[in-house]
Amino acid sequence: MVYIGIDLGGTNIKAGIVDEQGKILCKVDCPSKVERGHEAVIADMAALARKAVEKAGLTMDDVKCIGIGVPGILDPKTGVVPFCVNLGWHNVPLRELMRSHIDKPVFIDNDATVAGLAESVAGISKGSQSSVFLTLGTGVGGGIVINGKVYSGAHGVGSELGHTIVEFDGELCNCGNHGCWERYASATALIRMGKEAAESHPECMIYRHVNGNLDRISAKTVIDCAKAGDPVASTVFKRYAYYLAVGIVSIINSLDPEIIALGGGVSAAGDFLLNAVRNEVNEMIFYKGMPYARIELATMGNDAGIVGAAMLGR
Ligand code: BGC
Repeated sequence: MVYIGIDLGGTNIKAGIVDEQGKILCKVDCPSKVERGHEAVIADMAALARKAVEKAGLTMDDVKCIGIGVPGILDPKTGVVPFCVNLGWHNVPLRELMRSHIDKPVFIDNDATVAGLAESVAGISKGSQSSVFLTLGTGVGGGIVINGKVYSGAHGVGSELGHTIVEFDGELCNCGNHGCWERYASATALIRMGKEAAESHPECMIYRHVNGNLDRISAKTVIDCAKAGDPVASTVFKRYAYYLAVGIVSIINSLDPEIIALGGGVSAAGDFLLNAVRNEVNEMIFYKGMPYARIELATMGNDAGIVGAAMLGR
């Protein structure tokens, strides 16, 4: 038997067929286009799941169950998503609607939580007793694993690290508050900061890179220009790394995990990101000379969300 793992993101939906050992047999993806509303997105997820099964040369009879990683708050018992800022969903009965398309058991959990679990089972956090996985994508998600078990708090929202407030009266977040960490440490934030900088510095490399069409600025644009030594992009990236470190230091001060693993779009910056963040964290840690969490890049890449989701029902 195989499992279907679906990584439902604010930008893309990825689905994969995963075997008993957690190996991906094949994967497919499509844009989420969340503005169409939840019913269209769920119909696309079901179509994508069928496509993955077909691509793997299997039939639905070979599938044991479906797991979905959701970028928001959800109730794994009822299968309802009460609040998902990245998709604009309120009280969506995800499990029930998914089952109306494909009649298989459906398990749901938070996207970063499942990816964090996958990293702790087969990725960079393997063998650790305590780890925190951070996904730096559309938002910032947190996956806390303690003694091999996911920790989601008493009410299921214990790993909503992206909504920790780091700036009073700061940027408005999709959640309705101001100054949430994800407004400063997500890929979306890096893009926003890159756009603002390019607007006021048309002489910079970011601006030239997109021929003045600022809507084309991606996180990669800013990273590439910073890597190339452009002063404006370097300032933006340093500011980004500073904000990322602010949240990481708070995680270290509250949980003191063995390892903090960085995943999601911005982590593609690799050692460039790692060096910048490690330096900032080192500056901010107040107990100098004592050991603290290793900060590393997640190793399962884009696959962590699919594998972790698929493993939900195993
Ligand atoms: C959501 C989290 C999610 C994260 C990454 C945040 O905005 O509140 O639940 O894990 O984005 O997708």
